Amino acid sequence: MGFFNWAAPLFGVFANRWSSATIDDIAGWLSPYMRGECPDGCHVLDVGGGTGALAARLHDATGARVTVLDPTPEMLAYVPDDVDAITGVLGTAEAMPFDASVFDAVIVTDAFHHFRDQDAAAREFQRVVRCGGGVIVVDLDPSGWFMRVIARGEKVLGEPGAFFTPEEMCAFFAAHGIEGTCERMKGPAYRYTGTVREQ
Ligand SMILES: C[S@@+](CC[C@H](N)C(=O)[O-])C[C@H]1O[C@@H](n2cnc3c(N)ncnc32)[C@H](O)[C@@H]1O
Repeated sequence: MGFFNWAAPLFGVFANRWSSATIDDIAGWLSPYMRGECPDGCHVLDVGGGTGALAARLHDATGARVTVLDPTPEMLAYVPDDVDAITGVLGTAEAMPFDASVFDAVIVTDAFHHFRDQDAAAREFQRVVRCGGGVIVVDLDPSGWFMRVIARGEKVLGEPGAFFTPEEMCAFFAAHGIEGTCERMKGPAYRYTGTVREQ
């Protein structure tokens, strides 16, 4: 049994940590990638979206359809099932069960460093997001002693702990044909925003 299988009840209680200001920020980052009226013109994929806490808040704030992709059934069990526009789907970032070019944007919060094959995940982002759509990743910069302890702790728990610095994240996606920028947030957190181009 993996870390998220047994820790899911904790996430069920604490995953809705999003302040209204942060939800407004995320909605603003996504808005250039939305094609028109939501929900029809706006379909966001939350990869590693866990309990769907962010999906529910984003849907409330923007009206967008949000699909939550996650490989942990115990996390997906918390995804609200009473809202048509929010759907939980079992699967991994590395091999997504979706057709090509079906999403306007992908968002990944606090999950990218858990992916076991980040190159395969980036190829999937490129495939499932339409041309001109967005890739937004919120993660933690491993520079500094505190984050080195966190990364070590995650590895002890059987997770990859594969954190990138903002510079490494930008270079990583550029190597996959997704050009973007990184912006520092609070503490070690930062946000990557990139645009999918035709290959
Ligand atoms: C720390 S939780 C973050 C959940 C949510 N995004 C949030 O910000 O609260 C990390 C999530 O990544 C998921 N995950 C782990 N490996 C994954 C993979 N290969 N593909 C997609 N999701 C994965 C876990 O199941 C877990 O739900």
